[in-house]
Amino acid sequence: MSFPFISAEEAASHINHGDNVALSGFTASGTPKKVTKALAERARAFHAEGKPFKINLYTGASTNDFVDGNLTRADAIAQRAPYQGTPVTREAANSGAIHYYDPHLSHMTQDLRYGFIGGIDVAIVEVTEMNPTGEVILGAGLGMTPTIVRMAKKVIIEYSSYYRSSFRGFHDNYVPLDPPHRREIPIYSPTDRIGSPILQIDPDKIIGVVPSNESESVRQFTERTDTTRAIGRNVASFLASEMKRGTIPPGFLPIQSGVGNVANAALYGLAENPDIPQFQMFTEIVQDAVLDLMKEGKCSFASTCGFAFSDETMFSFMDEIDYYRDKLLMRPSEISNNPEIVRRLGLIAMNTALECDIYGFVNSTHVNGTYVMNGIGGAGDFARNAYISMFLCPSIQKGGRISAIVPMVSHVDHTDHCVRVIVTEQGVADLRGKDPMQRANCIIDNCVHPDYRELLRDYIRSSRRGHIYHNLADAFAFHRAFEETGDMRNARFS
Ligand code: COA
Repeated sequence: MSFPFISAEEAASHINHGDNVALSGFTASGTPKKVTKALAERARAFHAEGKPFKINLYTGASTNDFVDGNLTRADAIAQRAPYQGTPVTREAANSGAIHYYDPHLSHMTQDLRYGFIGGIDVAIVEVTEMNPTGEVILGAGLGMTPTIVRMAKKVIIEYSSYYRSSFRGFHDNYVPLDPPHRREIPIYSPTDRIGSPILQIDPDKIIGVVPSNESESVRQFTERTDTTRAIGRNVASFLASEMKRGTIPPGFLPIQSGVGNVANAALYGLAENPDIPQFQMFTEIVQDAVLDLMKEGKCSFASTCGFAFSDETMFSFMDEIDYYRDKLLMRPSEISNNPEIVRRLGLIAMNTALECDIYGFVNSTHVNGTYVMNGIGGAGDFARNAYISMFLCPSIQKGGRISAIVPMVSHVDHTDHCVRVIVTEQGVADLRGKDPMQRANCIIDNCVHPDYRELLRDYIRSSRRGHIYHNLADAFAFHRAFEETGDMRNARFS
């Protein structure tokens, strides 16, 4: 059987108002790029005729402007899940124009298979190699693809010729059984392969193949600042001291690293500390920094769900693809982030907070409790189950007008039960084995910016005593001061 080449417009014509559409990829990587643009035009044409046209869109993680940007601007998304990070989609999620639903990334694929969200009408899948029987080699991100091609009624292929080579050998396609038949997922080391490098798609479902030559268009990280460098140094010296006292074995434990500028800086911090030995990663996304760490001999292997490389780094990866063959492996997001494996391997998890409170609750998603930034991503999958779960953030934001450590977080993503260590550029708060008031003192002494230390001590003094001290009238005094005066330093307690 051979599949017809079709235009992006023809492919998009198979997608209808109200359809559940699922995409390959993870972040921008491996996400389709052509059909979603044509789909946005199709939505606009419907709207121009006064007809409704919106789809429900499910992806591995965030996407990029090709997908979220185009479809949001065309007002073509009804429901969106999980994780988004495109500015225009963020605004639509905050204005209510899109129903944005934000589950843990490891849950999303099984939620689809369990039927919680309904079926999948169309899957759009980027491939870098395929044959006439429907066997494909995916691209730079794996995401939910093995499940969505199995569930979808129709599959559209985007065949990418952007890369100099296919990604053959870098995927481990695997779908676990569902309850009550689920067995252990047999990964005992980050390097274990349990699935197939090839993904079989039912050829009868394939509508056609759309040629594509688009890059992932992954944005570069901003340069490290003095603050993010200091966070990286603090993370590394804390882990080195844990090794010295024997809580981390001499061979180290696998690292999970979150998204964003701060997480990226933490990885470089590990690279620069001579007391941190060579390590492996078991993480959900690898960014440019990981290839630098491999070249320096610091990171020997990374299990991931996608390669979020900038264009420049992607080309150098392709030039040296054979060097990386035994060093990188992509897994589906329900495996890369699987709590069972995170617990078994004993990960050191490093995720990023928008704000933490003095008792160790973490808000990673909602500014001032209301405005969604990106989403929880995989942070919850890792934080709850890691060997050591660390949250990192600068102690202040916006020139000091915001303290990242507040009396009570305005939204809870990670509770005090999961958060073991908090790191800012000021220092490290090791919360293990501490009761709430010991945690509060530890965080204030070690992580809070000097401008806010006395204010937070005042808050505790003004609070009602219990196992945790709180003054419910003023628990959000920092947030109120920011909303009313533009500066949390103006917070006062009754
Ligand atoms: N209040 C208001 N704004 C805040 C803030 C706070 N408490 N904390 C951070 N911000 C703003 C920053 O000022 C910055 O704004 P800008 O873009 O206008 O400069 C923006 O948030 C990003 O902050 P930055 O310090 O550059 O951190 P980052 O790039 O590392 O991103 C998160 C931080 C929390 C937004 C990001 O890591 C995230 O979305 N995390 C949740 C998902 C997750 O943890 N995934 C990991 C699993 S793999």
